[in-house]
Amino acid sequence: MGVLKKNFTYIDLFAGIGGFRLAMENYSSKSKCLFASEIDEAAVKTYELNFGQKPLGDIRKINPKDLNIPAPDVICGGFPCQTFSKGGNQAGFKDSRGTLFREIIRIIESYDFNERPKILILENVQNLINHDKGNTWKTIHYEITNVGYNVIEKPLVVSPKDVGVPQLRNRAIILAVRKDIYDGPIDLKIEKKRVNCSKIIDIIDKDIDDNLLKTHSLSDEQIEILDCWDEFLNIIPQKERVIGFPIWSDEFGKKYPLGGLPEWKQRIILKNRELYLKHKSEIDLWLKKWNVRKTLTPTNRKFEWQAGISMDSVYDGIIQFRTSGVRVKKPTESPALVAMDHRPIYGPEKRYIVPVEGLRLQSFPDNYQFNENEKQIFKQLGNAVNVKVIECMFRLFVEYIDEKRGK
Ligand SMILES: C[S@@+](CC[C@H](N)C(=O)[O-])C[C@H]1O[C@@H](n2cnc3c(N)ncnc32)[C@H](O)[C@@H]1O
Repeated sequence: MGVLKKNFTYIDLFAGIGGFRLAMENYSSKSKCLFASEIDEAAVKTYELNFGQKPLGDIRKINPKDLNIPAPDVICGGFPCQTFSKGGNQAGFKDSRGTLFREIIRIIESYDFNERPKILILENVQNLINHDKGNTWKTIHYEITNVGYNVIEKPLVVSPKDVGVPQLRNRAIILAVRKDIYDGPIDLKIEKKRVNCSKIIDIIDKDIDDNLLKTHSLSDEQIEILDCWDEFLNIIPQKERVIGFPIWSDEFGKKYPLGGLPEWKQRIILKNRELYLKHKSEIDLWLKKWNVRKTLTPTNRKFEWQAGISMDSVYDGIIQFRTSGVRVKKPTESPALVAMDHRPIYGPEKRYIVPVEGLRLQSFPDNYQFNENEKQIFKQLGNAVNVKVIECMFRLFVEYIDEKRGK
């Protein structure tokens, strides 16, 4: 018999809106969630609305023994990542949120050894792997091993794009199996589907209704900013559009000394000044025509062209108004959906993506329900795990163990 029966059980820790649960359900419709835990009330409501099971709250207050339920076959958990991500303060285990990982260990230890969950599948940001010069991962590896598991040497780094979904979102996937079930090497190979990956156009809502189109369209002011950068792009000959550095239009024509500035900043400024001198007359006309320094905010006076020579217009791409400037990428894949509001704009229709497109980017079903405003919807989706990534990695691991055990 394989390591898991079709009707295997699991617990869904740090459940969010249930990305892991959907992955388990996709893997086997007979699987059963014994309990979920989630502290955020809005996420709890969304989870309950969709799965009819209310997640228990704070994991720190849960003792599985009190719940009077059998030990699960699998533990799922996308433990909070703020302290590991590059965007956070990188305090890692020194910050108490980082120690929420230890709650997973505590839950495992609450079961007798031979009853402990057979498989663990955990998810975190990619930066977890190198955080604190690799010490954070070493600690995690050590702690899971210590409670009886054979743990993958290094987390797998997987993005939805690798499993055919057009979103770039590298995540670290941690896999472990109870030692008495399989104690050999874990040498998993992911067959990346980057080449055959579907494109943004495949997740775009083709029947978007007029109302939604209206409420998600760019404002006149935003269109003016993009028209301005579109015209700038046409100044740069196509073969030179592999720009490779952010355009900081404030530096055009400036000559002030750069001493004292960090080296990376000096490099960007020098490249901008060079670009200006190369196309001086056209850029001067452009600056004047659009009155760039007066009409655009300092943030929107910056431009990140990440589409190389493949496109002729900003409107052919995926656009984001970011704090670092206006960013344009090829329409092959979406940038990662994040909890902060950098929602992608679908250039060809000059509009923000809508919730159903966010669901598709995260491989959630179209009929997934929210009873929230859109900001909250995208926050919850941005926090979630991509369902297909988890489903594929779980299947890969279970099949690998079965094959190694000759089942
Ligand atoms: C990275 S998100 C996981 C999202 C989830 N995988 C999904 O698909 O939606 C981490 C979650 O842990 C929750 N969390 C943080 N502290 C918690 C605690 N003490 N107990 C339970 N959940 C907690 C957060 O509210 C957040 O939803």
